[in-house]
This record gives sequence, C-alpha cells and structure tokens, in this order.
Amino acid sequence: MKVRKAVIPAAGWGSRMLPATKTVPKEMLPLVDRPALQYIVEEAVAAGIEDILVITNRGKDSMSDYFDYFPELEERLQRDGKLKELEAVRRTADLANISYIRQKEAKGLGHAIWRAKAFVGGEPFAVLLPDDIMRAERPVIGQLIAAAERYEASAIGVQQVSDEAVSKYGIIKADPLEEKVFAVRDMQEKPTLAEKFSNYAILGRYVLDAGIFDILEHQAPGYGGEIQLTDAMRTLSQSGKMVAVDFEGRRYDTGNLRGFLEATVDFALAHPDTGDWLRSFLKAKAETL
Ligand code: UTP
Repeated sequence: MKVRKAVIPAAGWGSRMLPATKTVPKEMLPLVDRPALQYIVEEAVAAGIEDILVITNRGKDSMSDYFDYFPELEERLQRDGKLKELEAVRRTADLANISYIRQKEAKGLGHAIWRAKAFVGGEPFAVLLPDDIMRAERPVIGQLIAAAERYEASAIGVQQVSDEAVSKYGIIKADPLEEKVFAVRDMQEKPTLAEKFSNYAILGRYVLDAGIFDILEHQAPGYGGEIQLTDAMRTLSQSGKMVAVDFEGRRYDTGNLRGFLEATVDFALAHPDTGDWLRSFLKAKAETL
C-alpha cells in the first residue's frame, strides 16, 4: 500500500473569519510570509505525496493562480536582480502537481471529499484540512501514512482536547494497539459532554481507503444538515480497518481568529527573518500591558 495522492478541501465559506474572507479565501490569508494553503501543500510534499487535488469554489481562483507561473513578475524580478524573491515565487509553482475541482455547492466536508472520487481512483489517499495548520518535526500526514501502511488500514490524526472542547470535534472510541496508535471502534460528531466517547478529537489529517466514496455517495446529511465526513468514516471504520494516531506536533485551528493569531505569532517567532525582532518587540510590549 502506497499513498501518493492528497485531497485538500478548501470550498467552505470561512464565515468565522469574515469580513476578511468576503473576497480573500481563508486558505490564502498569509501566515507570516506565505498563505496558509502553502504550509499544507508543503506538508503533503514533505510526506512524499506526488499529486494534490484542491476542492475549490466560486471566488477562490487566487488559489490556482498562486501555484502557477507568473512570467511577467518573474521577468521583472530577474531584471531587478531580486533573486531571493524570484526563487520564492518560482518555488510555489514547482512544489507539486496540483489540480482543482469545484464543489459547486458547500454541502459539507463529506460532499467536498466525494468530489475527489475520479481523481483518487481506487487508491488509499491523504486528506489535509487547510484550517488545521501543523508545526511538527515530522510531517503529521507522514506520521499517519506510516501507520496506515504498517497496519494496511485507514488512519486518522487525533489529539486529546479539554472537556470544554469535545463538542467542537469528531470524537473517537478506540482501543490501544501500541504507543500513540489505537484501533478505532466508533466515532461521533460534536457530542455533548455527557455523550462523549473520549477526549480524543479528530484533527484535520486522514488517510482513507477509497471505499469511502461508495459510502459518501449514499450518505444522508448529518450534523448541521451537512454531509459529514465523520459519519462516512464511522461506517468505513466498521466495514474495514481504521487506526487513530495521536500525532506528534502542535496543531493550530486557523479557521478562527484566535487560532490564526496564535499561529501567526509562533510561526513569526520561528522565522529567521522575523524571530529575533518579534521576540524583542513582544518583550517591550509586555512591559506596557
Ligand atoms: P469548516 O466548517 O471548518 O469550514 O470546514 P468553513 O465552512 O469554511 O468555515 P466556517 O465555519 O464558515 O467559518 C472544514 C474544512 O472543510 C472545507 C472547508 O473549506 C474547511 O477546509 N469544506 C467545508 C468544504 O470544502 N466544503 C464544505 O461544504 C464545507
């Protein structure tokens, strides 16, 4: 089993980040020096993914423009001797083989993934949600691919969340297999505290068997009237093998303003061009608060 393809669903409304997302897709909001979507593509490429499909929607063409060549700009940068900028601009277009398909109607994450059926064919494939940005030594999707290949199974990324947070996530019921890897028994979408199976939340990274498409095709709308990926994955976990990986790395929910600001500060602190400056700025600022 080899995972070569990845799907990035980016067709949502981004309503938690309005008004910025009225005309700029939330995936294109910059985290320090590059759009959030570039971190996702870089994570997939670092894990050995060769082909990527972005599920997009009306008003989001800036995503495909970003990963394309821009000859006029490149010529100008070359002429002005701005070689560092030229290299950065070229690199985005050469990162991966990326295709795009429109969801047409935002009927939920499960429906968005279903649009990838023809691209995926019959192979197991990776899914990376662009709202969940990871900082990790080893690419998080690579940690999942390794477990999926080892167990010949689908794999989902999880981490423990607080009691207050369980109602925001898909939650799993699972038995331990080895350190940080579990066999998934069941899952539920956004449970109440009284209903929750555990505190292990599904966090935006998956490796799925292509059998998910047959399930999604007949999936009835679930929570919020949307076709939920969690509901289809629940069926998949009952018909085939699925493991959960308590992955190493810090995850930021950049689909909301606070998570986006946390990621911005942490990424800027880690960036060679801004880290030292931001550290001094924050220290000076803290004294005035
Ligand atoms: P979210 O529900 O977090 O994204 O979906 P959203 O709808 O853009 O955000 P809000 O709630 O309005 O602020 C998780 C992921 O699934 C994608 C989103 O783009 C996001 O990456 N998605 C969601 C789709 O591609 N299509 C959909 O119909 C729904």
